[in-house]
Amino acid sequence: MKRHLNGVELAWDEAGAGPPLVLLHAFPLDRRMWEPQVSAFSSHWRVITPDLRGAGESSWTDEDSFMERLAEDLAALLDYLGLARVVLGGLSMGGYAAFAFLRRYPARVSALVLADTRATADTDEGKKGRYEMAALAEREGAAAVAERMLPRLLGTTTHTRRPAVVSRVREMILANAGPGLAKLQRGMAARPDSRPLLGTIRCPTLALVGEEDVFTPLSDAEAMVQAIPGAKLVRLPEAGHLSNLEKPTAFNSALHDFLGQLRL
Ligand code: MLT
Repeated sequence: MKRHLNGVELAWDEAGAGPPLVLLHAFPLDRRMWEPQVSAFSSHWRVITPDLRGAGESSWTDEDSFMERLAEDLAALLDYLGLARVVLGGLSMGGYAAFAFLRRYPARVSALVLADTRATADTDEGKKGRYEMAALAEREGAAAVAERMLPRLLGTTTHTRRPAVVSRVREMILANAGPGLAKLQRGMAARPDSRPLLGTIRCPTLALVGEEDVFTPLSDAEAMVQAIPGAKLVRLPEAGHLSNLEKPTAFNSALHDFLGQLRL
């Protein structure tokens, strides 16, 4: 589906019926990265997967795609769908956007899922890397971004044993537009430190992390979980940064247990 909302064309998929579960994708992918979760959870949940502005089939504006803007986009989408509160999940950049959403609309989140993400802002060196990546995306397009990021996006087990996952991820990256990716990189560079938010989170929270994640390693997940009251951490062996795609069965089983305990 596609609608003009909050100044951009926003594309999303919806599957199933039940309480709403919104999943926000990672960079430089799109909503299709949630396919294993859509198929597992749409029997009991209304699973909503947007393309964040600048990715997939969603458009972007002249401005960098700040996480606050992604949060406003989501609020506009939920208003359009008539949904006051949702279970909100995000992987990596999706997690940064989820933090921005929580800062602004805490009452709209009934439970939170943070996968392979971190609460900290970028270091100066990290920001510099993002500006370089943004320039590369604008100059050479998504293929150059794929070449640069793929080796680290997936864990060593996936690189050696799951060629189909590697090709699927490459294909998703290549479908993106260089300028949209550049806006998202600069938007991520500008994101604030979300650590002050963590202690204020009052909803049930699950964090998941691939043990082979080198982008947002276990230590990032542990630090988040220690700071969020009552949060639970699940480690996924033999999975890297895209843990939901690399170990979908283990990821889904942890998510299933968490969702099953919610009183919505
Ligand atoms: C992501 O997976 O969303 C990005 O790689 C995160 C990041 O660049 O910080």
